[in-house]
Amino acid sequence: MRTHFLKANEPGVLRGAEVIRAGGLVAFPTETVYGLGADAMSGPAVARVFQAKDRPVGNPLIVHLASADALESVAARVPPRALDAAARFWPGPLTLVLPRAAAVPLVTTGGLETVAVRVPAHPVALALIAASGRAIAAPSANRSGRPSPTRAEHVRDDLDGRIELILDGGPTPVGVESTVLDMTTDPPVLLRPGGVTLEELRDCLGEVGELRGDDDEAAGRSPGLRYRHYAPRAQVTIIEAGTGETVIASWIEAGRPVALMTQRRITLERPGLRVKIMPDDLGAYARDLFAVLRELDATGVEGIFVEAVPREGLGLTIMDRLRRAASS
Ligand code: TXA
Ligand code: MG
Repeated sequence: MRTHFLKANEPGVLRGAEVIRAGGLVAFPTETVYGLGADAMSGPAVARVFQAKDRPVGNPLIVHLASADALESVAARVPPRALDAAARFWPGPLTLVLPRAAAVPLVTTGGLETVAVRVPAHPVALALIAASGRAIAAPSANRSGRPSPTRAEHVRDDLDGRIELILDGGPTPVGVESTVLDMTTDPPVLLRPGGVTLEELRDCLGEVGELRGDDDEAAGRSPGLRYRHYAPRAQVTIIEAGTGETVIASWIEAGRPVALMTQRRITLERPGLRVKIMPDDLGAYARDLFAVLRELDATGVEGIFVEAVPREGLGLTIMDRLRRAASS
């Protein structure tokens, strides 16, 4: 299949809408990462998303709507607290897990009786949903297991020849995926930290639970936990700031080139070591994270050492993605 590559302007979006309506696949920018979109209500279209990404069929997709008004078309029931969260954070990087409406195919929800929904805060995503007149199911537009794409070129690297169209809307402003919040329990439970912080959620909703560990029970509620994630080809290791000297030296002595991601303004250049200074501001750090992992990977380093950031605010999200990149 030939993959078309268009600017995400009005003609591009209209073309994208035609592809979605015809059951095809369109990669498009959201404020978080690029999504790989298909008509959420079409089982065959959604099945192609799983194929294109090599995604395990048990890992459900997020359904994207143009506004909360369309919630009733995909959710069987919307608890009042979900409406509070929607009013506060939509459009934006928050995904709500709700009881599935019968019209949503099980292939979209990975066989679950719940559906994940969000209203993205990106003009291209909103225009595509509006122009197609469809709810759009969209996982991140990477090959399964690879870092999420924050630029159209990342999508092309992973999916060229596997999808109909890529809409290039430039780099995505948030850079990490949406926060996934299970609204089917009281209190709600955080399934995946993301662009909306746990602190912001608690400020809006009061008590918000967290999943404990990566055990089977946790994976039952959050199927994404079962699968390999965000992994560059190089081996990722998280270290405390300033503690990497010895281990890095041993890799270099063994002839294995490595990279170090740090927020310290250090000059440590030496043969076999590539230092990447990351922003102090965690918003800027999150925006760059996946692009930096891909960029370092492309240099051919065998290991990427990353200094830990505090687990608060977006730091919780950054550490979640790093931990998963490191665990594969
Ligand atoms: O920011 C984002 O969320 C991006 C953009 C494109 O919207 N999408 C995204 O999709 O990150 P994906 O498929 O890469 O991640 C969706 C996550 C997975 O961890 C999946 O298991 C979880 O949401 N999920 C989807 N439906 C669910 C459900 N019904 N119950 C629990 N978790 C669900
Ligand atoms: Mg993903």
